[in-house]
Amino acid sequence: MIDRPRRLRTTPAMRRMVAETRLHPADLVLPLFVREDLDAPQPITSMPGQVQHTEATLADAVRAACAAGIAGVMLFGIPAHKDATGSAGDDPDGILNRGVRIARRVSDEAVAAGGTGVVVMADTCLDEFTDHGHCGVLDDAGRVDNDATLDRYAALAVAQTRAGADVVAPSGMMDGQVAVIREALDAAGFTDVSILAYSAKYASAFYGPFREAVDSSLTGDRRTYQMDAGNGREGLREADLDLAEGADLVMVKPAGSYLDVLADVAARSDVPVAAYQVSGEYAMIEAAAAHGWIDRRSAVLESLVGIRRAGASIVLTYWALEAADWIRA
Ligand code: PBG
Repeated sequence: MIDRPRRLRTTPAMRRMVAETRLHPADLVLPLFVREDLDAPQPITSMPGQVQHTEATLADAVRAACAAGIAGVMLFGIPAHKDATGSAGDDPDGILNRGVRIARRVSDEAVAAGGTGVVVMADTCLDEFTDHGHCGVLDDAGRVDNDATLDRYAALAVAQTRAGADVVAPSGMMDGQVAVIREALDAAGFTDVSILAYSAKYASAFYGPFREAVDSSLTGDRRTYQMDAGNGREGLREADLDLAEGADLVMVKPAGSYLDVLADVAARSDVPVAAYQVSGEYAMIEAAAAHGWIDRRSAVLESLVGIRRAGASIVLTYWALEAADWIRA
């Protein structure tokens, strides 16, 4: 026998040398939730270890993100009052925009102290802010109105940018959203602000815990705008459209059940590709680990390496801080 692949697996040092995929803190982005009118951080039951932050604890979390050397934070806001058009989303004093200002300040302080800071990203979507829970505004028949929603996204993106976001992240799967946001940002003078497009976003059962995290008002589902699980080619089409509209980064979401789509998007796009390891992916490993059915740390790291191997250069994960610690150790 000449070929003995096991030779390269003999020692930890050898295995480390031949590792094809490494995790680095700078690959990881931490999603964070900030809720209006909250006195103390509120645990999210279905996401053990994650909380809805107060403005004060959000600042602490962003400081921890800077100290951990992770790439960025992705902010979601939970307003005290929701309405039909999600007006809290583009209110400069709305909770998400307040959160963005806090993250901007904390990151800038970290840079002033000689660090790198983090990339501040905001969820550019209406579902956290609407009383019906949909990602867009509704027409008279109660359907999600694509083109009317685009104007709202443009307003959200400009407000988030004014608050200090480096990256706006349209996650609502409306047609044409990237182009409209690019145009609005440029018209407002924000030519340097990037768009992270949730390009291939599937209607997924794995968003379940997130709905608790943002106190979602949704009844029904998002299947007229998010994609069907079986459609891989359509995911590529969505990514192509977003690239043509000017997306600076593209994302596939969820990650774990869509690694083939991720690999295909990565193979055909020249921009950085992100993947979102969503709330249900987090909850499954946490739940199995809590039962002692799975080794938590190994399972988390394996899930993250798998997403990187499939082609994501950036991974959004609720384990970002902890994983950064493990990787560095
Ligand atoms: C929509 C949005 C969702 C998530 C991120 N952005 C929920 C949805 O589409 O229903 C889910 C994230 C997760 O499950 O971790 N603004």
